[in-house]
Amino acid sequence: MNRLAPEVWIGDDAVAFTREGVRRVAEAARRAITARGRFLLALAGGTTPRKLYRTLAAEEHGIDWQRVVILFSDERLLPHDHPDSNYRMARETLLDAVPLSPQNIHPVPTHLPVREAAMAYEATLRGLLDPRDPRVDLILLGMGADGHTASIFPGSPLLRADDFFADNPDTGLLRAARTARSTRSYSREPLCAAVTDAPKAPAARVTMTPYFINQARQVLVLVLGEDKVAAVSAALESDADPGESPIRAISPEGGALTWLLDRRAARALTNAPR
Ligand code: 6PG
Repeated sequence: MNRLAPEVWIGDDAVAFTREGVRRVAEAARRAITARGRFLLALAGGTTPRKLYRTLAAEEHGIDWQRVVILFSDERLLPHDHPDSNYRMARETLLDAVPLSPQNIHPVPTHLPVREAAMAYEATLRGLLDPRDPRVDLILLGMGADGHTASIFPGSPLLRADDFFADNPDTGLLRAARTARSTRSYSREPLCAAVTDAPKAPAARVTMTPYFINQARQVLVLVLGEDKVAAVSAALESDADPGESPIRAISPEGGALTWLLDRRAARALTNAPR
């Protein structure tokens, strides 16, 4: 299945970044709801998306929130009211401020032990998806300064080297090597995984897998700030394998991959779009 090269959008500052992110989320929502009657949106954690979520909640974008289904790209195994919970961050910035249907909000069940939480979330995802078209409409991702995304960190067993190879050395884009890793293998590929050794606290997390993220219709990678410069260049302009730069494992099989950056994060790119 052909993959699209990533689109790289660079904004002058965090304000432009937020405005563009909101525009793309709203556009994806309207498109999905028109086409399929609902919008499956997976939220990123961390701090980068906070302003985007607040702006999405604060302004009218023509989104029919009753038809939006909220998922989480990853979650830290903390109580939902813990200050570092991705779910709490999403609630404070977005979920409590828009008219979502409560039954359409699917937090990771972090009260369970991590492996059980991952299995339970996998069951939740499978219950929501049509096996004939098991794709989230839009998955939002952040990226750490080490190139991790969601809770997929360097050296993760989720990044088995044989799963990926660079088939375009110029762009370094990676492709899932196992051609069976497509929608056809959905029934046997894990959609979620338990993480117990995350170098970014807390160690215990649940994450969507690279396989599942790569089934999405659209992935938006949201990166701001000077501290991400090296990871951005490694991701977009090197041939590092995903074991070193996990974000490079993200290459949606039939979907669009877009990077939203600010000038600071994109500073070292040599062939950035002008
Ligand atoms: C998490 C996130 C993680 C985050 C990156 C970037 O739970 O920590 O899912 O993948 O997106 O670490 O975090 P910042 O946006 O805070 O830089």
